[in-house]
Amino acid sequence: MIKLASPDILAEDIKKVINVLKSGNLVQGENVVLLEKELENFSNLPYCTMVTSGTAALHLAMMALELPKGSSVIVPAFTFPASANVVENICCETILCDVDPETYVVTPEMIEKTILANTKKNIKAIMIVHEFGQPVKIKEISKIAKKYNLKLIEDAACALGTMADGHHPGYYGDMACFSFHPRKAITTGEGGAIMTRSKELDLKLKKLRNHGMEKTPDKIDFTLAGLNYRLTEFQAVLGLGQIKRFSKELTKRKKLVEIYYQVLKNKKNLQLPLDETGNSWQSYMIVLDKSIDRHQIINQMDKAGVQTSIGAQALNCLTYFQKKYGYKNEDFPVATRLFNKGLVLPLYGKLKSAEILLIADELVKALDE
Ligand SMILES: Cc1ncc(COP(=O)(O)O)c(C=O)c1O
Repeated sequence: MIKLASPDILAEDIKKVINVLKSGNLVQGENVVLLEKELENFSNLPYCTMVTSGTAALHLAMMALELPKGSSVIVPAFTFPASANVVENICCETILCDVDPETYVVTPEMIEKTILANTKKNIKAIMIVHEFGQPVKIKEISKIAKKYNLKLIEDAACALGTMADGHHPGYYGDMACFSFHPRKAITTGEGGAIMTRSKELDLKLKKLRNHGMEKTPDKIDFTLAGLNYRLTEFQAVLGLGQIKRFSKELTKRKKLVEIYYQVLKNKKNLQLPLDETGNSWQSYMIVLDKSIDRHQIINQMDKAGVQTSIGAQALNCLTYFQKKYGYKNEDFPVATRLFNKGLVLPLYGKLKSAEILLIADELVKALDE
């Protein structure tokens, strides 16, 4: 079976995890700090805070903004629900925004249109999502955020290594949040990180992930209502080997993506993702024509030994958001179409060119049947 995703974990990484387990130093310590430093170096950003998941990263980022209760946050309609769930969990409201049909992410025009259509709401922040590693036009959106005095959060759960307008996520936004779930390009089992250029926010995030604790040489105090979102040492050491090999992983993914393009480019009943500069290719999601039964394609691919999957969700189609806000499936047509017809194909550095050719061939066969 060709799996959808497979982490780049080597025997030497496993050995290091075992050594940490044997050492007995299990909770956040030197390996977490080392991984933070590696991520700072990799992304060329000054501050990184490791946490227990991408959702925890988003939650802490939202908490750190201290938005007044009842404020609204703009969130793309096409994303994983965690992007909006954290907004809901800090007692704020979610305003959805449709995405571009070719890049699957929001555009500056769409964001500004959403702001202007909701002037009666107390909008305080924009959350953009670099979905599947696709870079959002973040420079322009950061100008819009400034113009309307809004905070800007980058959900970069899928976007380690993405370069948006020449910079890594975390440069233009107030904070960028990453996930290290096994479906992502680097994994710590579960895990996440927040990157920022703000020293002040970084200090706050580090306090918030550790119960709001503040230590001075002579006393320990709790100055914020924090949580426990600390990563373990054995998770961090697993990430350390992978981040050192990550530039190579990115190059391999890019080469494999080119093969998908070569083989599938003339196929009529599907849309391929736009090949934008700076995409880190966490996932390769194609969009099937409306006449094609995706369920059937997934089953046929499965029988051929290839795991495929749906992409992200259209939040306007999910029960929670429909019940709370009255959103309907047809409100955000692009997100709804991507939700219903998106198909993610396997993509990771360990795959061989021949396997990509086989996957593409099987897909063509399934579509022709
Ligand atoms: C866009 C997006 N945001 C947030 C998350 C949540 O990350 P995690 O699973 O690490 O909590 C995911 C996970 O798939 C995601 O794709």
